[in-house]
Amino acid sequence: MTKVKTPNAFILILVLGLSIQSSMAQKLVQNIFGRECLSLNGRWNYIIDPYEMGYYDYRYDPFDQSETGQGGFYDNITSVIETEKVEYNFDLEPTLKVPGDWNSQYENLSLYEGTIWYKKDFKVTPKDETRYFIHFGAVNYESHIYLNGKKLGSHKGGFTPFQFEVTGKLNRGNNFIVLKVDNKRNKDEIPTINTDWWNYGGITRDVTLVSVPETFINDYKVQLDKNNRNLIKGFVQLNGSALQQNVVLSIPELSINKTFKTDATGKVEFELPVKKVKYWTPNEPYRYTVSLSTDNDKQTDLIGFRTISTEHKKILLNGEQVFLKGISVHDENPLIPGRLRSDGDIRMVLTWAKELGCNYIRLAHYTHNERTIRLADEMGLMVWAEVPVYWTISWENKDTYANALNQLTTGIERDKNRASVIIWSIGNETPVTEARNKFMMSLADHVRELDNTRLVAAALEVEREGFDVRVDDPLGEKIDLASFNEYGGWYWGGHPSNLSKYKWEIKYDKPVVISEFGAGALAGYHGSDSTLWTEEYQATLYVNQIKMLEQIDGFSGMTPWILVDFRSPRRQHPQFQNFWNRKGLISETGQKKKAFFILQEYYSKK
Ligand code: GCU
Repeated sequence: MTKVKTPNAFILILVLGLSIQSSMAQKLVQNIFGRECLSLNGRWNYIIDPYEMGYYDYRYDPFDQSETGQGGFYDNITSVIETEKVEYNFDLEPTLKVPGDWNSQYENLSLYEGTIWYKKDFKVTPKDETRYFIHFGAVNYESHIYLNGKKLGSHKGGFTPFQFEVTGKLNRGNNFIVLKVDNKRNKDEIPTINTDWWNYGGITRDVTLVSVPETFINDYKVQLDKNNRNLIKGFVQLNGSALQQNVVLSIPELSINKTFKTDATGKVEFELPVKKVKYWTPNEPYRYTVSLSTDNDKQTDLIGFRTISTEHKKILLNGEQVFLKGISVHDENPLIPGRLRSDGDIRMVLTWAKELGCNYIRLAHYTHNERTIRLADEMGLMVWAEVPVYWTISWENKDTYANALNQLTTGIERDKNRASVIIWSIGNETPVTEARNKFMMSLADHVRELDNTRLVAAALEVEREGFDVRVDDPLGEKIDLASFNEYGGWYWGGHPSNLSKYKWEIKYDKPVVISEFGAGALAGYHGSDSTLWTEEYQATLYVNQIKMLEQIDGFSGMTPWILVDFRSPRRQHPQFQNFWNRKGLISETGQKKKAFFILQEYYSKK
């Protein structure tokens, strides 16, 4: 390994006395789309660092001794440039597009799992009485963040936003930000080492420099009470030095213009009776302009008002029974390979779902882009949101639980004002053990504490013997739906014509929502409906699945697996897969398969 002249660099870092800045990221700024922002999207220089030489010296000691305030080697660009033997020069390196996973941008990064360093120069003129936050939409998986050679902190979790306050740390004029991003999988992380999706690494969502007044509206919730559609409930939380202030909540179309006073902690909770509300529904996804203002800050948001609840085996939207005509969706653009990057990407995928006749989507298996949730609000799609507590998690590891809790909490905090989100899912196909039950039931309790206005779900485990299927996973007691994946006619042997023989024993007096079923088909491959991988096989599976599911008492919705073919390292068949999971109703070239039209026909009549 090239021996970096550590002593000089190390001394320089010591001399520079890099201090660790607050590595705690404050509570997320609610609705950054309503804020004055400088986008840091664009091209960032990058260095591939498989041996993490920028972070560890040749004895594998980290340069970044957080407690002593030493930054990482790369982070202190000054030291690298001044060190006699410079072996790195960010500015001469190639670039990666941000937002965007690195796997899809260069062939040699397609399956890369390890560290990549990013660097971005930017100019800003910080204003007085103004606070600044650097906000990341998502970075997969672990990142260490440095601003102008000083460590801001680190973050774990590949799908949830995080931020660092940088007030007073920005130069007037030239600044630079460096990230160490590592997407290596690890059994104790969330997700664990084994998943059925591509491990897209990097800065996969927007990076934004957000500016707010010294005392600002940090967080708020404005939603309908769960049990009273004529009562708006919520809170406002200020952050800054003048915490006790008047806050005006205005919703002009509801003739609401109400002043509240925050307490010494900057918080006020409120309840507001409302008469005639135009409720948000998929067919009429109406959103109100909601403004919150204080002496020196104003936030405006578009918020839909609706209630979601269950009553025995029924799901009620605004008190009326609804059937969830759904489809599952990964955060991936098949046509421009990689994670969904922008509103354009996302609108294309959600338009396919609307074309299919959906009123509902399962955003599997992790927290999707905030833009996706906002577009679902606008386009009228109810959402099953989920955290990647997927398959064989390290149930007894307290750090693993804390990670899952953080990802769940962050998603709920970020999207709590979005009418589209009706379900918080705490996981998928997790093997039943005592430790798993404890872990998952605790997550379910936590969701209800944070947000009792939405349903809690998970893809439960099922037991099968031949054509007899039992659903009595202990976790089912804890969640609001009898929701589970089933693969009759594909993984569960036999031709789809056998589906009529299945007997279902579902233990709960709860709405039955099938969170997955499906079959693989290579678009354009045709043959008999008994030939695996043909469009005809997939289509006949859909016909027979629908017939079977319609017989189940309490059948209230479904999200077949999946809208679009997606990439997975587990899908190796050289003729039919080539690293693509082929259960999509649409191929990676945008071609609709026969099963798309079977489902579209069914939903049109539902
Ligand atoms: C599982 C899992 C999905 C996976 C699918 C499949 O049920 O939840 O993530 O992609 O089956 O095997 O295609």
